[in-house]
Amino acid sequence: MTGSRFMSALRGEVLDPPPVWLMRQAGRYLPEYRATRSKAPGFLAFCLTPELAIEATLQPIRRYGFDAAILFSDLPILAYGLGRALDYRDGEGPVLDPITRDAEIDALDLDTVLTKLKPVFETAAGVRAELPKDTALIGFAGAPWTLACYMVQGKGGHEFVVARRFAFSDPLRFDRLIDRLVEATILYLDAQVEAGAEAIQLFDSWSGLLPEMAFRRWCVDPVRRIISALKAKHPDLPVIAFPRGAGALLQGFAEATGADALQLDASTPLGWAAHWVQSNACVQGNLDPQLLVVGGAVMRDEIHRIRRALAGGPHVFNLGHGIVPEVPPEHVAELLAAVREPI
Ligand code: CP3
Repeated sequence: MTGSRFMSALRGEVLDPPPVWLMRQAGRYLPEYRATRSKAPGFLAFCLTPELAIEATLQPIRRYGFDAAILFSDLPILAYGLGRALDYRDGEGPVLDPITRDAEIDALDLDTVLTKLKPVFETAAGVRAELPKDTALIGFAGAPWTLACYMVQGKGGHEFVVARRFAFSDPLRFDRLIDRLVEATILYLDAQVEAGAEAIQLFDSWSGLLPEMAFRRWCVDPVRRIISALKAKHPDLPVIAFPRGAGALLQGFAEATGADALQLDASTPLGWAAHWVQSNACVQGNLDPQLLVVGGAVMRDEIHRIRRALAGGPHVFNLGHGIVPEVPPEHVAELLAAVREPI
């Protein structure tokens, strides 16, 4: 709730030790997650069954006492809400019916977002009712560029060449897709907030694939429009943006979009970020997830280095990207001890 340390940091307070949560804190590295996951016929059904999604959201909170919970769902689910086919095949991640034609962009149905995704909002409300009151609930969505990558490419990857060629070869048509996704994301996040989410994170996992002008057009501007619409309705709602791989384009990103906090990936130099980013926004991050697999003294030293480098401004401790399935659960307990001990 508004009194939590996590919310205070997002609002600009400098706290020692920093509040902490981890991207993908609910996931396959936890045995209790695997047990809950096996009760659903597939991953989409899992995300859309409030009883199971509530349980998955709460598991890492019960086990570790993080300062914030993140709604258990998945990024491409908004495409399903807009009427697109979405499927998960084991070991492959999301598979979508790729968008190729104008008619498919025009057919994206804003009217079905709130009805098809109602279980997500029920999950948010159910989690909020069960969370300890000083643990904040984070709602989330993919930023339009990253969601468009999946919708155009039809599946995950690291290059998204089909999506980039679509954007570069027919920018006006690509704008129409992005505009539709901006509208859908506003509806989707507003409903999460109405249901009980107290802060929002926008994941632009593939923003690092775009050159500067395209980054401004399809990452900065859509995120700015979403934040401005959400804040018009919820003036005190903190928004965390994650333009992953943005590098030097992080400078000025918070000012240009209105984001209260920026998630840093593991490659962001912290002296630079403390000067250019943290002066205007809270920063979240940025331990390399592979250091959490390794654990021990190397991890602890790096956690302390990150804390010291970001101690001069508002900071929420997190990884630089999501937890990977190979993480031993006891390493997460070690991470928390190193984040919370006096240094
Ligand atoms: O704990 C949490 O962080 C909350 C839930 C959450 C998931 N995905 C659950 C999930 C969140 C916030 C996401 C975001 C997400 N999903 C992103 C943005 C962050 C990032 O990683 O860059 C992206 C790009 C996706 C798309 C996605 N979902 C991929 C590429 C995959 C396959 C890779 C993988 O890890 O399996 C997923 C599946 C997924 N999303 C799982 C989970 C727990 C694993 C599914 C399973 O249990 O089999």
